[in-house]
Amino acid sequence: MGAMGMAASAPSDRPEPRVAVSPLVATIDSALAECVDLSRAPADFPLSDLLVIPRFLSASEQSHLFSAASAKIRRIAGRKYEEGHLDKVIFNYRECTISSWGMGLGRDLVAKHPMESEDPVISDILKRVYALFPSSIKWLAPHLLELRESDGEIRAHVDNVRTSGGLVCGICLGSPAVSIFRPVNNPKEFVKVLLEPGTFYAQTGRLRYDYTHEIPGGTEREFKGQPVARDRRISVMFRDELV
Ligand code: OGA
Ligand code: MN
Repeated sequence: MGAMGMAASAPSDRPEPRVAVSPLVATIDSALAECVDLSRAPADFPLSDLLVIPRFLSASEQSHLFSAASAKIRRIAGRKYEEGHLDKVIFNYRECTISSWGMGLGRDLVAKHPMESEDPVISDILKRVYALFPSSIKWLAPHLLELRESDGEIRAHVDNVRTSGGLVCGICLGSPAVSIFRPVNNPKEFVKVLLEPGTFYAQTGRLRYDYTHEIPGGTEREFKGQPVARDRRISVMFRDELV
């Protein structure tokens, strides 16, 4: 099981928590046209629960963060890729949590490794991410997930509703990827999002709770009829605390 426990949670008598987050900054029309394929979307797709910001990172920030993330994963998770989560959602991946880049968690780690939190490029990126959302949000430490170039993939799932709150965000690094959102109740309808390296995206509300998301590795890895190249890909995932 991954550190964040991503897949659907085990059945329980308690009602599933559902945390409302105030509306996201709207995705601008040019980004929608460039990165979001709504041609197979359900009629009531909650577009305002999706935020996509292409080129959120400059090319040099993207490569800086990719190298830093790559070194972290290599050091913390080792050389070997995991074949599959116990819950069979993520395949051929490595992952770790970055307390020292965090806000809220891991202050002692920040104190122990001041160099890491003092990387001005990374601090600036983190500040820009947090500035997109209300300051009342309590963030968990960022999570890094690396998918192997040849066969890494994330199958359709809803992030565990008991381990984080109403916001799930990511920055895509290294390789472009396609993310697919499907209504839990009608997986034949879907929305595809093209995630180029340096793209920021966020999901909340109905999109976070009533839609699955996935990063396909096979033939569905295409966008508007064009195949999407694959290489080693790292995502920096940001989630909020379940309060
Ligand atoms: C996850 C996840 C998406 C991504 O880690 O639960 O869905 O963009 N990641 O890597
Ligand atoms: Mn997920």
